[in-house]
Amino acid sequence: MMACRLKFCLMQCAHVLAVVISVVSAQSCRTQCRCEGTTMDCSHGSRQGLPRDLFIPSSTEIVVMSDNLLTRVPPTPAIPNLLELNLEDNFITELTPTSFQLRQKLQILRLGGNKIIDVASSAFDGLSQLVKLYLNHNNIETIEAFGSLSGPSSLEMLDLQKNKLTSISIGTFTGIPLLTELNLSSNNISKIEDGSFARLKKLRVLYLHSNKILQLTNATFFGMSSLTRLTLSNNKIQNLPDLAFNSAGSLEFLDLTSNSISTITQAAFSGLLNLTGLSLTKNNISSIEDGAFRDLVKLRELSVSDNMLQDISASTFVGLAPEDRTDNTGLEVLYLGDNRLTTIRKDDFARLTKLTFLTLWRNDITSEGLEDGSFANLGNLVYLSLSENPLTNISAATFEGT
Ligand SMILES: *[C@@H]1O[C@H](CO)[C@@H](O)[C@H](O)[C@H]1NC(C)=O
Ligand SMILES: *[C@@H]1O[C@H](CO)[C@@H](O)[C@H](O)[C@H]1NC(C)=O
Ligand SMILES: *[C@@H]1O[C@H](CO)[C@@H](O)[C@H](O)[C@H]1NC(C)=O
Ligand SMILES: *[C@@H]1O[C@H](CO)[C@@H](O)[C@H](O)[C@H]1NC(C)=O
Ligand SMILES: *[C@@H]1O[C@H](CO)[C@@H](O)[C@H](O)[C@H]1NC(C)=O
Ligand SMILES: *[C@@H]1O[C@H](CO)[C@@H](O)[C@H](O)[C@H]1NC(C)=O
Repeated sequence: MMACRLKFCLMQCAHVLAVVISVVSAQSCRTQCRCEGTTMDCSHGSRQGLPRDLFIPSSTEIVVMSDNLLTRVPPTPAIPNLLELNLEDNFITELTPTSFQLRQKLQILRLGGNKIIDVASSAFDGLSQLVKLYLNHNNIETIEAFGSLSGPSSLEMLDLQKNKLTSISIGTFTGIPLLTELNLSSNNISKIEDGSFARLKKLRVLYLHSNKILQLTNATFFGMSSLTRLTLSNNKIQNLPDLAFNSAGSLEFLDLTSNSISTITQAAFSGLLNLTGLSLTKNNISSIEDGAFRDLVKLRELSVSDNMLQDISASTFVGLAPEDRTDNTGLEVLYLGDNRLTTIRKDDFARLTKLTFLTLWRNDITSEGLEDGSFANLGNLVYLSLSENPLTNISAATFEGT
């Protein structure tokens, strides 16, 4: 009886004590930061470290210290269950081997918007469970951390956009084989060594837009067997070598907008059997070799607008018509506006019977150049633009069967 009562009392006391502790801790957190659930939010202040006397509930999983005045990663105190640390928009200049010593369970680390210049090989030592790492908007010129054996090998997402990287080499990413998404956009990358991404067998998304890439080789994307999305827009690429993307045969979307490509050779897009979208907008393309798209048997959307094309023909579009394919699909959207086309012949689009959307605006197409029946077979077409061409009259026969 007594024992029972004592036990009851102990249980009661423990319960009361727990309530008291959580009230106190929430209060002590609340005076300096905001604690809710497992998140402790100390953002938007002028702190140079984690508040010294702050009571941090041991259940804390997310700590937000963005937009403060940190100049280094706060090394203490240990927070046993910390999964996500947000240090964005501070003044951190350096990562040292001990920066994350007490943060071994971290899965998400946000360091965007700081002043980091170098990422040494030891920068993320001990972070064996890190999955997402944001290093965007820094001043990073050199990265060694992702090539070393001690690197964060569990990493799946790495954001390095808006930094100052100038080159990528074979060793750069050898230590993070599980990566699925890599953002290298808006850097100053001009050189990519052949095979630089070959170890990234799981990489699905690679952003390389807004850099200074001059040249691709047939080995730039060597071994990238899982890549589905690649952006190369806004670079300085002048020509596409034969088989440029052949070793990235899973590509579904390829963006080459705003480069200086002048010719599309027959083998440039060889092997891209799964590509559904291709943009060549805003280049300097004056010729497309016959059959250049013949491997693109899944392509649904193609843009070659804003180029220097003077001529196209039925042979340009081999591979894009239902009769070239086994699954009765075909090209659906074709942008050819803003070129120098003068003539549209009866056969040019005749096989593209799945087209729903076709732009030919701002070309040099004349009434004489537009053959009767040019759009004859395009029974699925819902949009056609011929505006801003020197057309004076259009005969009813032009749209026969459309
Ligand atoms: C850069 O990468 C991040 C993370 O992968 C992604 O969320 C973001 O949309 C990317 N930015 C651009 C401009 O593609
Ligand atoms: C980009 O890199 C080149 C060298 O390749 C350098 O001359 C230039 O200053 C860099 N630009 C910026 C904005 O960092
Ligand atoms: C890749 O290009 C080089 C020349 O730049 C050539 O020697 C080599 O045979 C090409 N490889 C393939 C697989 O076509
Ligand atoms: C193309 O896509 C199909 C189905 O999504 C997939 O099974 C196949 O492996 C892909 N081909 C390549 C070369 O990745
Ligand atoms: C565009 O291509 C032509 C050759 O077709 C070349 O003479 C010219 O320099 C190129 N212009 C640019 C801006 O690359
Ligand atoms: C209309 O266009 C045809 C060429 O398609 C031309 O032969 C004819 O003279 C034009 N008629 C007028 C009234 O401009």
